[in-house]
Amino acid sequence: MQHRGTKILETERLLLRPWRESDAEEAFAHWMNDPEVTKFLTWTPHGDVSVTRALLKTWEEEYKSPLCYHWAIVLRKENALIGDITVMGTDEFQESGEIGYCMGKAWWGKGIMTEALSEVLAYCFEEVGFYRINGRHAKQNIGSARVMEKCGLVYEGTRRNFFRLPSTGERVDIVERGILREDHFRTLS
Ligand SMILES: CC(C)(COP(=O)(O)OP(=O)(O)OC[C@H]1O[C@@H](n2cnc3c(N)ncnc32)[C@H](O)[C@@H]1OP(=O)(O)O)[C@@H](O)C(=O)NCCC(=O)NCCS
Repeated sequence: MQHRGTKILETERLLLRPWRESDAEEAFAHWMNDPEVTKFLTWTPHGDVSVTRALLKTWEEEYKSPLCYHWAIVLRKENALIGDITVMGTDEFQESGEIGYCMGKAWWGKGIMTEALSEVLAYCFEEVGFYRINGRHAKQNIGSARVMEKCGLVYEGTRRNFFRLPSTGERVDIVERGILREDHFRTLS
């Protein structure tokens, strides 16, 4: 792989760029304080913007590694910070990583995460040279399932009661998906 880290990416509507600590207020107000956004996530809403600021400080530190792939999603026209997308757990030998994303409720259902994920996948396969990108989501998280499907992450199985949601304590099935390098290049040809 040719690691290039969190290179700035652009799509028709979006700018994907590295996080900075000064993003805290906007990220907190737009989604990090929202229990609806975190309903199926591994973390709970931030009670105070200081929690967001401390988190973003650790994210900024992570850019010291060229294996860090983590973007803030910005709407170009409005210059609004609306979400987060990352490739986590990059494994050099496996040439793999796992996608993660979330976004403020006000911007759901407009195809935005599909646009962001498509661009990130193109970068991962075409420029960095990943072999496989994994994705997983709670079975009930239909929106996330659709985003992954639309971006070519195929269904590979369901782990029964694999995860306990921090939001409710409920145990949920986790759906496993993945896209391979050859899948990506097949869709281009
Ligand atoms: C999941 C999430 C990223 C989706 O982002 P988005 O920009 O709204 O996604 P898109 O608009 O690109 O696509 C969503 C698709 O799901 C569909 N969808 C969303 N909720 C749905 C529901 N409850 N039932 C059926 N379809 C639903 C939309 O209709 C759309 O499909 P379509 O294009 O076929 O019409 C966003 O809802 C979010 O941030 N959720 C909270 C965080 C989260 O769950 N992250 C994922 C963790 S695995």
